[in-house]
Order: sequence, then structure tokens, then C-alpha cells
Amino acid sequence: MFINEENFKKDVLSKIPLRNEPPLPEDWLHIEMLERFRILRFAPIREGMNVLEVGCGAHAITTVPLAYLVGETGRVVAVDISRWHFFEEITSSAGLRHRIIPLKVDARELPFPFKSFDLAVLIHGVRSLKNEETMIKVFAEMFRVSEKVFIAETLPISKNQAQEAHLRMYNLREEIFEALFGEKDDLHYLPLERLKGLLEEAGGRIIESGVFEPNLPHYLAYIPRDYVAQIADKRKRAELLEKWDKAYEKWKKGAEHPPVGWIIAGK
Ligand SMILES: C[S@@+](CC[C@H](N)C(=O)[O-])C[C@H]1O[C@@H](n2cnc3c(N)ncnc32)[C@H](O)[C@@H]1O
Repeated sequence: MFINEENFKKDVLSKIPLRNEPPLPEDWLHIEMLERFRILRFAPIREGMNVLEVGCGAHAITTVPLAYLVGETGRVVAVDISRWHFFEEITSSAGLRHRIIPLKVDARELPFPFKSFDLAVLIHGVRSLKNEETMIKVFAEMFRVSEKVFIAETLPISKNQAQEAHLRMYNLREEIFEALFGEKDDLHYLPLERLKGLLEEAGGRIIESGVFEPNLPHYLAYIPRDYVAQIADKRKRAELLEKWDKAYEKWKKGAEHPPVGWIIAGK
């Protein structure tokens, strides 16, 4: 099988139905999967590999391109602590469900007694790991069970107005989630040097790293204004609604993926 972007679109993306979730465009999931496919071209993946994916999320956005890249003889063990809602539907429609073993577990304690994987990946998921202590624990587990680790995450850098629009809207999420649910999620992106430092604190050794520009629109920072309007604390609500209105003015003109940092590490 020859793997390139055109084949990925033809073999996989074309089989996944469009979504009807305004104000997101119908092809938002396809665009995000294409972004993950482009990131994964920097990962040391070969056909037939046994890959662990941490924080796969409800939409299998990285899982699908990963399952494509490992080929018919490869396997992806996809773990997530909680979000599974569309996973079966999306991986089945992509025709890749049989290459994936989903597991509902906390990646701070992975249920594998020894090195069981060629590669462990975590893409656009560092942001969901609550705090640096959790990040170090999860990275240490990834090193314990896998030969190599590949981490990729958006960087807090903008090179144009559309990237800046993404960051403005995205940076409201941490505070909005905390005000609504008493717990942070979608933490502010970390600089690449900090990510490397955390991997080293987890016992890892950096093998290679880089920065890449996805050159794709990015709609997922969007958070409905109605959510913000539900914040109970009156002052916080007013402050965040004002920030939301300003961020939305820029976001609606177009938002783009900021640069993404990637790291290959070993132990
Ligand atoms: C931003 S989301 C999905 C990212 C996805 N890989 C992508 O490419 O879009 C991150 C996921 O990490 C999961 N997560 C957070 N903490 C976790 C933990 N301790 N163990 C396993 N999964 C965790 C969340 O439930 C969430 O689904």
C-alpha cells in the first residue's frame, strides 16, 4: 500500500460522513484528521507496528490516521479516561475499526506490565492532562510501556491573524471550564522547550524535535456563548462574556491551526 495524503483522503476520509454541527463546517472532522495525518508523518511509524495512543478522545481524530498508517498487520491500542461517544461510529465508517483496541483507562496507570509497544503517541492531548504533575506521570507511563514516544501539541505562537484568532478563543477555554465545572481543561499551550523539559523530568531522552505548520483552518477552539452565560459567579460571567465577544469578532473572520511542536523521545 502506498501511503500519501491523496490516498488517505480517498481510502479513509471519503468514507467518513460529514457532520451537521453548526457553526462548525460539515467537514471539520475531515480537516482535523488531515492535520493529524500531517503531524504523524514526523512520527517513526512503520507498517505492522503495535502502537499505543493516549487520550484518543470521542472522535478518534488521531486514531483513524494512526490505524491507517500501521496497515493491515499493525494494531493501535487507543486509551482514554472518559470520552468515547462517537468512537465506534467513526472508526467503523473509516473501515479501520478492526485494527483498533479501545481501552477505558487512566493513562497515569497503564495496565501493561512491561514494554508492550513499538511507539506510544499523544497528539493534541497534553492540554487535557490537568497539570504538570499529571503530564509527568503520563509521560513516565508511556516510557515504561513503549520503546519510543511521540508527542505533538499546538504551540502558543501565532504567525498571522487567523492563528491569533484561534489562540484568543482557545485561551478562554481553561478559565471557562474552571468557572463552569470547578476543574480546568484545555490548558494553555506550553512552549516546546517546556514540553521537552517535562519529558526529561519523566525520565525521557529527547531524540528529535521540530515545529510544523499545518496550514489548515481550525474551528475547534469555538465554545458557544450560551455556555459562558451559564457561569454562576456574576462578575466572572460578565468578564468572560466580554472577552468572548472580543475573541469571537476575530474568530468569525477565520481561525487557523497555529504551529505544532513535535518530539520523538526514548528512555
Ligand atoms: C483533546 S482530547 C483528544 C485529543 C485527540 N488525540 C486528538 O487528536 O484530537 C484529549 C483526551 O485526553 C483524555 N484524557 C485526559 N486525561 C487522561 C488520562 N489521565 N488518561 C487517559 N486519557 C485522558 C480526555 O478524556 C480527552 O478525550
